[in-house]
Amino acid sequence: MYNNWEELEKSIINCRKCKLCQGRNHIVFAEGNKEADVMLIGEGPGADEDREGIPFVGKAGQLMNKAFDGLKIDRSKLYIANVVKCRPPQNRVPEEDEATACLDYLRNQVMLVKPKIIVLLGSTALKNILGKEYGITATRGKWIERKQIQYMPTWHPAALLRDEAKKIEFWKDLKEVCKKAREMNLEMEKN
Ligand code: URA
Repeated sequence: MYNNWEELEKSIINCRKCKLCQGRNHIVFAEGNKEADVMLIGEGPGADEDREGIPFVGKAGQLMNKAFDGLKIDRSKLYIANVVKCRPPQNRVPEEDEATACLDYLRNQVMLVKPKIIVLLGSTALKNILGKEYGITATRGKWIERKQIQYMPTWHPAALLRDEAKKIEFWKDLKEVCKKAREMNLEMEKN
């Protein structure tokens, strides 16, 4: 673990810890405020993110931005990262060895940001962060506290593109996050 951003960011530049390095154009490390109170964790970059090097800039990210706008969430106040930093081929779910190889980076990001709330976007984030025993359908929308961090699992934004009903639940979960952030005096909404 590195206790400063410079060393952590340097350590990933030529990462070859797993096979995903072979097809990547960009490592998608993160976006946002390194002092954020609220962090979001997705699965891994898609084609658009791989091209631009920024998380959630494609269709799923644009849909998430719409929810942010509707709820007056300021994206620049959040810290957004993924379980794996390089794009899995055909956007498949990251394999166990890939996620395992990459998780130390994410743990280090959490250690440095010190978020009070972490939103887990989808099953891959939920299982890799809180444990394989958790299922997204049963767990979404429910707060889970671990080591003084409040976790809110919710649908992955890409799932909303395929299922309208999930949009409503996703919105509800984010609204719950805003409410908790307000109660805890945390920064995430537009001024
Ligand atoms: N899906 C993710 O999980 N992360 C991204 O950055 C983009 C799409």
